[in-house]
Amino acid sequence: MKITIVGTGYVGLVTGACLAELGNDVFCLDLDQRKIDLLNDGGIPIHEPGLGDVVARNRAAGRMTFSTDVAASVAHGDIQFIAVGTPPDEDGSADLQYVLAAARNIGRHMTGFKVIVDKSTVPVGTADKVSAAVQGELSQRASEALFSVVSNPEFLKEGAAVEDFMRPDRIVIGCDATPAGEQARQLMKKLYAPFNRHHERTFWMDVRSAEFTKYAANAMLATRISFMNELANLADHVGVDIEAVRQGIGSDPRIGYSFLYAGCGYGGSCFPKDVQALERTAREYGQDLLILRAVEAVNNHQKHVLGTKIVRRFGEDLSGRRFAIWGLAFKPNTDDMREASSRVLINELLQRGASVAVFDPVAMPEARRALALDFAGDAAAVSRIHFCDSPNDALKDADALAIVTEWKAFRSPDFGLLKTLLKAPVIFDGRNLFEPEAMATAGFEYHGIGRSILTRA
Ligand code: UDX
Repeated sequence: MKITIVGTGYVGLVTGACLAELGNDVFCLDLDQRKIDLLNDGGIPIHEPGLGDVVARNRAAGRMTFSTDVAASVAHGDIQFIAVGTPPDEDGSADLQYVLAAARNIGRHMTGFKVIVDKSTVPVGTADKVSAAVQGELSQRASEALFSVVSNPEFLKEGAAVEDFMRPDRIVIGCDATPAGEQARQLMKKLYAPFNRHHERTFWMDVRSAEFTKYAANAMLATRISFMNELANLADHVGVDIEAVRQGIGSDPRIGYSFLYAGCGYGGSCFPKDVQALERTAREYGQDLLILRAVEAVNNHQKHVLGTKIVRRFGEDLSGRRFAIWGLAFKPNTDDMREASSRVLINELLQRGASVAVFDPVAMPEARRALALDFAGDAAAVSRIHFCDSPNDALKDADALAIVTEWKAFRSPDFGLLKTLLKAPVIFDGRNLFEPEAMATAGFEYHGIGRSILTRA
C-alpha cells in the first residue's frame, strides 16, 4: 500500500519504518530540510533501539523515501498519517497548529480519495477540526475530492517503540459511520491485517472514543505511578518497604505488577503533557478532574524527592558539596530529556550551591542542550555542572551518589570501587535499584524511595 507519513519525529519515523517493514511503500515528509538530509544520508535523528536497522533496510529496498516535497507527499499516499508534534500550550492544552497545517496541505494538494489518520496524540474533537481544515482548502479550489479522517493513536514506549509497533497488544482505530468512513475502515483494515492474523487486535470505535482512549491509557498509567509514589513517601515515615507492598498488591490480577514502581517521578513527552491536556479538555467542558490534578501535583512533588532527601541529610546549604548523578534521560534506553526528573534535581542542587558531576550512557549531548536551556544566562551555575565520561568518573570526590535513571549499566556496579571513589559511601537511589539490607551489609548509607525500613524509629 502507498502510505505517507507527515512528520519524521519519534512517532512518525517509527510508524513509517515499521509500515515499510511490512512491505508498504512509505513516503516520509518533513519540512525540516536538515532532518531530511540527515535521514537521506543514513542518519537517525533520535536514539531508539533497532530503528536505525529497520530504516536502513527499508531505504535500501526502496520502500522508504524522505523528502520535503509537500505536493509529492500528498500525491503518494492513499493513507496520510499526520504524526507531527503537539507541544503543550502555555495553558497545558495541546497546540494543534502543526496538525492543522498538515491537514491544510493535504487539502490543498489532494485529488483522489484520501484517508487522513491522526496519529499524533490529539484531544477529543481534533478529527473534526482536521476535517474542517481539509474541507476549507478543498472548497477554495472548488474540489469535491473525498476524504475521511480516522483516529489511530499510538501506544509506543520510547526505548521499545519498534518492538511495541511490531507486536502491538492493541490497535485502536476510530472511523466515522459515513460511506467515506467505511471506505477508510476497509483501507485501515488492509493496512493492519498482518497484525491480526492469529487473533484480532484491532478495536474499532467511533473517532472521539479513539482519541479519548489514548489519553485515558496514559492518565491511568500516570495515576498508578503517582499513587505508588504517594504511598512510598508515607512508607518512608512508617517503616514500610514499598517494594514488598508492590509485590503484595501486584499479585492481585485486578491490579497487576506493571507500572507500580515508586521512584523520583515520571517524565517524558507523554505522561506530563497528556495528563495536563486531559485536565484542560475537562475544564473546557466545565469539569474538574480531581484525581488527575492530584496525579500531576504528586508527580511535580516527587521530582523533588531526591533533593529533599539530600537536604535532610546534608543541610539546606550545599555550597562546597559535590554530587554524582547517574542517569539524566527521563528513562533508560532513550536520550530524551523532556520533563526528566534529573533536571529538577540538578536545578535544586545548583541553587543550593552544590556542584554536580553527571553521567548518562546515551543522553549526554541531549543533556548538555537541555541543561544549557535550563540555566541560560546563569554561567556560574553551568560552570558547576561537570559532564563526565563514565559512571566512575562522576563519583570522584563526590559527597554522595544520586541515581535518577535505571539504566542497566548502573544495576551491578563495583561497590568496592564505588566506596573508594566517593568521599563517603552515601547513595540516594531514585529508582530503587538495590536492596536496602544488602547495601547496609556492604557498608553503605542507602536512601531508596519508600524503603527506609532499616532506619525506622
Ligand atoms: C508512555 C506510555 O507507556 C506509552 O504507551 C505512550 O505511547 C507514551 O507514553 P514513555 O513516555 O515512552 O511511554 O515511557 P514509559 O515507559 O511509559 O515511562 C514513563 C515515565 O514513567 C518514565 O519517567 C518512567 O521512569 C516512569 N515510570 C514508569 C515510573 O516512575 N514507574 C513505573 O512503574 C513505570
